[in-house]
Amino acid sequence: MAEITEVKHPLVQHKLTMIRNKEVGTKDFRALVDELAMLLTYEASRDLPVETVEVETPIQKTEAKSLAGKKLAVVPILRAGLGMVDGILQLIPAAKVGHIGMYRDEETLEPVEYFVKLPDDIEQREVLLVDPMLATGGSAIDGIAALKKRGATQIKLITLVSSPEGLAAVQKAHPDVPIVTASIDEGLNDDGYIVPGLGDAGDRLFGTH
Ligand code: PRP
Ligand code: URA
Repeated sequence: MAEITEVKHPLVQHKLTMIRNKEVGTKDFRALVDELAMLLTYEASRDLPVETVEVETPIQKTEAKSLAGKKLAVVPILRAGLGMVDGILQLIPAAKVGHIGMYRDEETLEPVEYFVKLPDDIEQREVLLVDPMLATGGSAIDGIAALKKRGATQIKLITLVSSPEGLAAVQKAHPDVPIVTASIDEGLNDDGYIVPGLGDAGDRLFGTH
């Protein structure tokens, strides 16, 4: 079973608390989601392979570590996942970006897929699938299945706020996919929203209702 990592770094906790605040507006919400995505990428990229290279400093030649050229792709689940892409690309600028369009039916809470566009060589890439919210887990489960159907074999899921039941559902459906999250919250309310959560991430990012 792949690992679930709850990143309890003080900066992550502080910024997450800020976006939970219902008084925080779109501009600050967006900037903080970007920063949180960057901080979680630091954790999610901890096992990237490195190689030894030679480098000449102003003092002398030395051997040092460099990324071993593993190809990466960032794939947001639309819409809310889009808010995490720029933060990740600041750390991994060479990553390619795919998109999975999916929304939750408000009645059934089941995800509905409406768009998938991925890099052609997705099967050769480690994929960071990103979505700020993991509630029932349905969107993440179907998002991972959409990636696997197109050949992806190495997938990590990065979320900001997760419910325990959503995490368990994703782990059961895709035991090979590690999950990095900023918080494991208490659970879900009757409307399928994460408690205490931060509300509707897509609406707060894009200023819609
Ligand atoms: C939200 C969120 C996830 C999904 C989580 O998207 O961004 O994709 O719900 O819920 P689940 O774990 O129960 O599937 P939403 O459907 O609101 O679409 P949006 O991002 O376009 O607003
Ligand atoms: N989607 C959100 O944006 N927020 C939740 O709490 C649950 C699903």
